[in-house]
Amino acid sequence: MPAGATYLHGTSPTEQERLSLLNRLMNEAALRELALRGGERIVDFGCGLAQLSLGMARVAGRRLVGIERSEEQLARAERDQLLDLRQGDVTDPPLRADEWGQFDLAHARFILEHVQDPVAVVRQMVRAVRPGGRVVLQDDDHDVLRLYPEPPGFMTLWRAYERTYDRLGCDPYIGRRLVSLLHEAGAQPVRATWIFFGACAGQPNFPAFVENLAGVVASARGAIVDGGLLGAAEFNDGLEALGTWAVRPDAAFWYAIFWAEGVRP
Ligand SMILES: C[S@@+](CC[C@H](N)C(=O)[O-])C[C@H]1O[C@@H](n2cnc3c(N)ncnc32)[C@H](O)[C@@H]1O
Repeated sequence: MPAGATYLHGTSPTEQERLSLLNRLMNEAALRELALRGGERIVDFGCGLAQLSLGMARVAGRRLVGIERSEEQLARAERDQLLDLRQGDVTDPPLRADEWGQFDLAHARFILEHVQDPVAVVRQMVRAVRPGGRVVLQDDDHDVLRLYPEPPGFMTLWRAYERTYDRLGCDPYIGRRLVSLLHEAGAQPVRATWIFFGACAGQPNFPAFVENLAGVVASARGAIVDGGLLGAAEFNDGLEALGTWAVRPDAAFWYAIFWAEGVRP
């Protein structure tokens, strides 16, 4: 198994707050797309603070296994009798011998973008589910971000942010590969879609989308500036331009989360 990449965003309390905000913005739509029927045995790969895991477990009405590498994330994660959270790496998930091949659903959100060998992880997900079981992948493809009118300098900052993934041996454009990863890992792809992630000025949740975007980039400041991808002044200017843009009455934020689903033959 490959050694895991450093997790770009880290696990500081500020970053954990941002991840929670992201969950608040996204989980309702994610649960809608998942269309759980109840009773599913679920394993969540790279569960983070386990907020979506808990949402899934509640709908399924059944104990869910969550796998997360970071002690800091697990220490701040949701606690509930419906959650069986285990510390471990998604490339070598800590499942018992009698659990492999038994799950109805293996799910992963925003994790394949942080590993160096995503197909190895999807293979483990396919192996975890029963024949006919579902494998659901949700991830980023950072190329689809559009802010309009464009805040000057922000997209330069965004491109530098994308390069931090390359430096870690990860793929900032993994979203477009999700169906192909399912196929390569031995699942039969059955569905692809996008979850819209955006808003415009005038929508109550617009500031939260901007806050999340600023937080994502800010959490990678070290990798961007210390890594020599962008000067500190350009970094600061890009973030400031985002703040100025955010109060425009015509500001629009367009982004989408890539979603692909397959079944184990
Ligand atoms: C962006 S968060 C997403 C968390 C959760 N899936 C969600 O959507 O809220 C990515 C998580 O993956 C964890 N992680 C990164 N690499 C991992 C690995 N190789 N094995 C297990 N967890 C990993 C990080 O610690 C982090 O908590």
